[in-house]
Amino acid sequence: MSFFIIALLLVLPLSSVLATVLPPRQHGFHHHNVQQRLPSAWYHEPDNPVHRLFRRGPADYAPVGSPEWSSGFQRAVYDPSSMPKEWKDALDDALKAGKIPDIPPSNNTPGTNPVYPPGVNPNSDRVCSATYQCRHEDDIWDAPPGVFGIGFDDGPQPFTPKLAKFLESKNLTTTHFLIGTNILYYPNEFRLLFDRGDDFAVHTWTHPYMTTLSNLRIVAELGWTMLLIHNSTGGFLPKYWRPPYGDADNRVRAIAKEVFGLTTIMWNQDARDWSLVTGGTTTAIIHKSMQSWTSGESCVCGLLKSQAEIKLAGPKSPGLIVLEHETSEDAVNSFIDAYPMIVNNGWNIMSVTRFANESAYQDPATAAASSAGSLMDSSGPLTTTVDITTQASDDSINDVTQQPAEV
Ligand SMILES: *[C@@H]1O[C@H](CO)[C@@H](O)[C@H](O)[C@H]1NC(C)=O
Ligand SMILES: *[C@@H]1O[C@H](CO)[C@@H](O)[C@H](O)[C@H]1NC(C)=O
Ligand SMILES: *[C@@H]1O[C@H](CO)[C@@H](O)[C@H](O)[C@H]1NC(C)=O
Ligand SMILES: [Zn+2]
Repeated sequence: MSFFIIALLLVLPLSSVLATVLPPRQHGFHHHNVQQRLPSAWYHEPDNPVHRLFRRGPADYAPVGSPEWSSGFQRAVYDPSSMPKEWKDALDDALKAGKIPDIPPSNNTPGTNPVYPPGVNPNSDRVCSATYQCRHEDDIWDAPPGVFGIGFDDGPQPFTPKLAKFLESKNLTTTHFLIGTNILYYPNEFRLLFDRGDDFAVHTWTHPYMTTLSNLRIVAELGWTMLLIHNSTGGFLPKYWRPPYGDADNRVRAIAKEVFGLTTIMWNQDARDWSLVTGGTTTAIIHKSMQSWTSGESCVCGLLKSQAEIKLAGPKSPGLIVLEHETSEDAVNSFIDAYPMIVNNGWNIMSVTRFANESAYQDPATAAASSAGSLMDSSGPLTTTVDITTQASDDSINDVTQQPAEV
């Protein structure tokens, strides 16, 4: 764990230390004239019971970036003993109601997929591990036909403004799957996104393999991220989350859903832009992959071949949800590079959380086409779903310094 913190500290920019303190934003978004926009739908309605777990304190919300805003949070894994009682009670209620399946935590060594104890089948209906490509019916893996769903993981980051500027120039909004500790490090970048009306979803506090954690640690990873987003947006609470490395199973999904009302968003293509910084891919390979996915042409895209074949199932159906990151300049550039191909091939670009509530129930034909694609990959560990955290040099899948928060 300490490596993770050290890595974060090393990249702590002067700008976040000297963050200008601006007045807090209250409820409500700026309404830009943005094309292809559905109403914002990333947050729970004010009457949703989950708000009971995140009451406004006696003081008003502190300005994002101010010492009062950050001092109540810690830049490290939370011990469950420091958890608000309401969260623990909500978990206990869900357990008593039989809503959380009793699946043992998995175990993993760095760079490998989590493994369950003997006799626990990750592809069984009971476990349904997303790492092993098992889709629960409540998950969102596909976009509606014709839609190219956009979302970016692991922000905020120093490259966030560049992405925001490009999206602004195209009148687009996106979903940011935010890492809680990164919000503390990059308050200005966070505020930029909120002010432009982008959508937020939870990507956990410290980016662990969630199936390796105890129930209480899962609650902590989600809850503290929810609380920081709540305190940084004048009280909004996200409705969606994306598991780091795509690692969720029915126990993790149920805790996210039953305690915090969070629906799981996955992806059906992986740009592997997270491995640009370690040479795991190149911008040229990503260009070819995007060309293949958006045009439906087959391509030999190296590591991406089997995934690209999924697109052959039919033109623009299912729609695309491509795993993309805002973790490096090249990752952001890869999206900018792909943009003309996406548009020229007739895709309708949409922020993933804006169609997610419409597409949770998949068209059976779509589901069959996609699972046929994933079955072809079922012979071995599926490292293509691995997604990395903020600092690729410390979190690349081959780096032995990476440790799960808990095993
Ligand atoms: C999806 O969210 C939008 C915006 O909140 C809402 O208008 C729409 O009714 C929702 N659709 C479903 C199926 O819940
Ligand atoms: C969140 O904001 C509230 C203000 O409504 C404040 O009372 C509370 O201490 C904040 N939480 C943390 C952990 O800073
Ligand atoms: C974005 O919207 C504004 C206002 O409607 C319009 O002037 C501008 O041309 C649009 N830009 C693009 C790239 O579509
Ligand atoms: Zn991630």
